[in-house]
Amino acid sequence: MTDPKLVEKIVALCKRRGFVYPGSEIYGGLQGFYDYGPLGVAIKNNLKNLWWRWYTVEHENVVGIDGSIITHPRVWEASGHLENFVDPLSECKSCHKRFKVDDLSDQTKCLECGGLLMEPKNFNILMTTELGVVEGEKTKTYLRGEACQTIYLDFKNVVDSTRVKVPFGIVQIGKAFRNEVTPGNFLFRQREFEQWDLQWFTKPAEADKWFEYWKGERMKWYQSLFNDQTKLSFHQHEKLVHYAKKAFDINYDGREMEGIHLRADWDLSRHSKYSGQDLSYLDSETGGKYIPWIVETSGGVDRTFLFLLMDAYKEDGDRVFLKLNPKIAPHKVAVFPLVKNKPDLVELAHQIYKNLKLETNLTTTWDDRGNIGKRYFSQDEIGTPWCVTVDFQSLEDSSVTIRDRDTTKQERVKIEDLLSYFNLKLK
Ligand code: GAP
Repeated sequence: MTDPKLVEKIVALCKRRGFVYPGSEIYGGLQGFYDYGPLGVAIKNNLKNLWWRWYTVEHENVVGIDGSIITHPRVWEASGHLENFVDPLSECKSCHKRFKVDDLSDQTKCLECGGLLMEPKNFNILMTTELGVVEGEKTKTYLRGEACQTIYLDFKNVVDSTRVKVPFGIVQIGKAFRNEVTPGNFLFRQREFEQWDLQWFTKPAEADKWFEYWKGERMKWYQSLFNDQTKLSFHQHEKLVHYAKKAFDINYDGREMEGIHLRADWDLSRHSKYSGQDLSYLDSETGGKYIPWIVETSGGVDRTFLFLLMDAYKEDGDRVFLKLNPKIAPHKVAVFPLVKNKPDLVELAHQIYKNLKLETNLTTTWDDRGNIGKRYFSQDEIGTPWCVTVDFQSLEDSSVTIRDRDTTKQERVKIEDLLSYFNLKLK
């Protein structure tokens, strides 16, 4: 990461305020695994809902699936992952620690004890598991190393059971697992993480056109969420992974957030061959059959979450605030009674809180602890865009103050206008 201090602050904030906790922490933790807390899961769900709606409602001809994490073991032979999903590692002859060749400046010397390193060997990063209960009869299989494989397995089912016609897309959000040799940088490189993928099936001759289309669309989507758009860029891959004919990343601050890949006919041809099933597509207009080519957009939900927090984190004197897009903020509104020892005032505030919180778009929270300044600071730190305070004037003229997280400016608004005020802001 470019600014390790910023990441440290975000890790601390995430733990303190319930965004993200280290996995299995009471047992000393487990490297590369994290749990999302109440506020973290709220952001993640908001993000996933926005993503899903953007593909399946705001675009044409895109349908969704939710596939299983464990698949037939042959899937990973067909996909090429058993052969190609490898990291070359060198093992120390003395302490037997293994190191990624890329991390070594001297490829002969152990980074840990200075011992002699053996010739590098390839280690597969697919995570294995076993199916069955009888010892000796268990079947070895794998947790999916990339979520998209289930989309290829369901391609024929989707074509046969729905009305999609090429060109069309299948989207999925789901977990993937990799035995990363060097997990780290908080959520950036984990062993269990979530991907959001589109697999777009097209006529081969139109694949380049669609590649450019989705590449542009994805960049626009990320731009709509980040404050500092200068940190978003494309990176073209010169060295290609085994399935790709062309690959670009969308980077945040020089780090990969999403891959756009032209996978061509690699996946459907290989699964046809290994499964013995015909996965070609019958063009009802021409009567011809062909294997559609695939354009993939494959992003990391956790990386997007992390980069959005990095983008949103702001310090203003003593005040820390998260300048999150209101659409993804965990709470949209916080409601406070100015004081908590005036029953009329508390009752009115509570009534407003109850009414707002029942609105689907308006996740609303309540706070009556400490003084008003502390409550503002506390909401700023978790990115709540608007705080509504019910004060003595509210009892007289049915108006409240709304305080804006980013400017700290306040305005008075009639209680009856609150809903339309927030809905307009969230458009
Ligand atoms: N289906 C293609 C595919 O999996 P990838 O570039 O290996 O491509 C796609 O992964 C995205 O998944 C990456 O851009 C990244 O955001 C996320 N990702 C990959 N490995 C990850 C890891 N170990 N931890 C967190 N996110 C990861």
